[in-house]
Amino acid sequence: MITKNPFVEIVSTGRFLPEHVVTNRDMESIVETTDEWIFERTGIRERRIAPPEMTAADMGTAAARIALERAGLEPADVDVLIVSTATPDRLLPATACDIQALIGATKAVAFDVIGACTGFLYGLTVAEGYISTGRGEIALVIATEKLSAIVDWEDRATCVLFGDGAGAAVLRSSEGERGILGTHHQSDGTLADLLYRPAGGAAIPMDEEVLRNRTHLLRMSGREIFKHAVRAMADSSGKALERSGWELEDVDLVFPHQANIRIIKATARYAGLPMEKVFVNVDRYGNMSSATIPVAMDEAIEEGRLHPGMNLLLVAFGAGLTWGAMTVRW
Ligand SMILES: CC(C)(COP(=O)(O)OP(=O)(O)OC[C@H]1O[C@@H](n2cnc3c(N)ncnc32)[C@H](O)[C@@H]1OP(=O)(O)O)[C@@H](O)C(=O)NCCC(=O)NCCS
Repeated sequence: MITKNPFVEIVSTGRFLPEHVVTNRDMESIVETTDEWIFERTGIRERRIAPPEMTAADMGTAAARIALERAGLEPADVDVLIVSTATPDRLLPATACDIQALIGATKAVAFDVIGACTGFLYGLTVAEGYISTGRGEIALVIATEKLSAIVDWEDRATCVLFGDGAGAAVLRSSEGERGILGTHHQSDGTLADLLYRPAGGAAIPMDEEVLRNRTHLLRMSGREIFKHAVRAMADSSGKALERSGWELEDVDLVFPHQANIRIIKATARYAGLPMEKVFVNVDRYGNMSSATIPVAMDEAIEEGRLHPGMNLLLVAFGAGLTWGAMTVRW
């Protein structure tokens, strides 16, 4: 049994999803694809797409306000504000600083973590560190993603997979033994080119050639990513369970990163977790990168699926490559 002093718990969550629904049928008029192909390969039926003027900061702000209100806190109570995003509004400064200004988290330290789809778990871990070492009392972790702004809408192999949305969580120390238990996080930078944006950063700045070749947009080796995702998430889940002193049977509900139902099912099979214990909503939102886990948790809470004392497993995988798992006693 793991002991911590103190345990750090998620006290509330919030989510924001843009209203505009783009179905697989709608995708048929954008690229050469079919509803059947997308659904069979990914389990996705539709995704939300933000309007052009809506930014990642706007979506994150909306999710954060809900989470804070549910925690009974004011923005000025937040000590540390962490944002995970693969789609920052600007390259500088951090989107966390923009959200800090929008919500008025006046006393917070605000910064981004760049962990791609694993970013929410990395953010939770950093927040746990801040709180458990007494560097702050209240943490706000936000995952907000406007993937529609960085996918190549001419590439049918990627644009059908992604969607926009945001989720947030408020953390503070627990008086009991609820909260984050074990974590396992890992990365492998040698495989960065399997999922990346080749240009548009400081190494290859944006110019006409970049725009013409569309190299500032997302590139992915789908099959390779698939293989690594399954192995890495199953491995991380096992290590996080071990660090928590849990057996597979101790897990009540799993929140996997929602990229693709086939990846989720294969990971569950590989890790030995029955699908009845796995939360799935990828059919309605597609892959919202790091926002998928907090959005799923927020939905599960709303559906009354989370009860005090339940044992949760959060597990994610993404560009970097990055991956990780975390156990939480609810
Ligand atoms: C992307 C993915 C669904 C593709 O499935 P796949 O079975 O690997 O398919 P392939 O990439 O081998 O492509 C098979 C064929 O379908 C075609 N195809 C690709 N996208 C298509 C689409 N949207 N509609 C119709 N056909 C499509 C390809 O062009 C290819 O055609 P070809 O055989 O004539 O060349 C799958 O690889 C996957 O889910 N990978 C993981 C992606 C992911 O989740 N990334 C994020 C991780 S955080």
